[in-house]
Amino acid sequence: MPGNPVEDHYTSSDLGAAILAALQRMGKDIDHLTPDDLAPVDEFHGGQRAATIRLAGLLGLSGSEQVLDVGSGLGGPSRFLAWRYDVHVSGVDLTAEFVRIAEMLTQRTGLAGKVDYRQGNALDLPFADASFDVVWSQNASMNIADRDRLYGEMRRVLKPGGRLALQEVAAGPGGPPHFPVQWAREPSISFLFSAEVTRAKLEAAGFRVLIWQDTTAEALQSAARRAHTTSSGPPPLGTHLILGEDWRAMFRNSARNLEERRTELFNAILERVGQP
Ligand SMILES: C[S@@+](CC[C@H](N)C(=O)[O-])C[C@H]1O[C@@H](n2cnc3c(N)ncnc32)[C@H](O)[C@@H]1O
Repeated sequence: MPGNPVEDHYTSSDLGAAILAALQRMGKDIDHLTPDDLAPVDEFHGGQRAATIRLAGLLGLSGSEQVLDVGSGLGGPSRFLAWRYDVHVSGVDLTAEFVRIAEMLTQRTGLAGKVDYRQGNALDLPFADASFDVVWSQNASMNIADRDRLYGEMRRVLKPGGRLALQEVAAGPGGPPHFPVQWAREPSISFLFSAEVTRAKLEAAGFRVLIWQDTTAEALQSAARRAHTTSSGPPPLGTHLILGEDWRAMFRNSARNLEERRTELFNAILERVGQP
């Protein structure tokens, strides 16, 4: 049973069955799926797969890294990184239903030896200090008010010299977002900070910025394309399956919020610095 408002927001009954039914309608063999088959639904962030490829390109992976994906969702980014770069990825997510579906989809893509998931809170990561070479996180912090603790936890589980790869939604100068959005139906579970404040919090937590990139323009292009599907009807497989009945309003507001600079998107690569 979901136990808090954030988990409630992301939990919908029969999501796993709905994803498999959509894949079958598309003629896919649901026992032998690829990360590409799943990308329309399991890359649950602005820009979807293209954004994951962009962030991974900024990061650069050699294949030997142990990676932690914080707020791993249905597991799209983690499976993609394991599949494309041959790294081992652990995912952690607050939403128990997402963790169950991530495990089920990972079995069906044959990646179970390369990726594992556990339910947990990013504010109290269930991993020992200095466990990972890379911490990765896309569009997970919007529901987290205590960013000092979040970034502190990300730093704690990184090895000295380890890197953090982030894609985050930031508050823009245009005012508060229009709701509902994909991460919240109303403001009580939405916590956005400006890019400047976020950067200061990351530096205070013990990170050095290696790359900082505003990707709002790319995110707007992608959000505008998706908003268009609200009139033409959604494809069989897409994130509307996760979002529930008000997905049309969420897609429209995403584009509008970016257009009015109520929200912004950025990518950042940071290095853990300082003493333990
Ligand atoms: C928009 S989804 C993004 C999922 C995934 N990163 C992706 O890009 O496909 C946000 C995710 O963050 C998770 N989340 C929110 N707050 C969290 C917390 N405190 N600890 C762990 N996960 C959290 C949610 O359960 C959800 O799966």
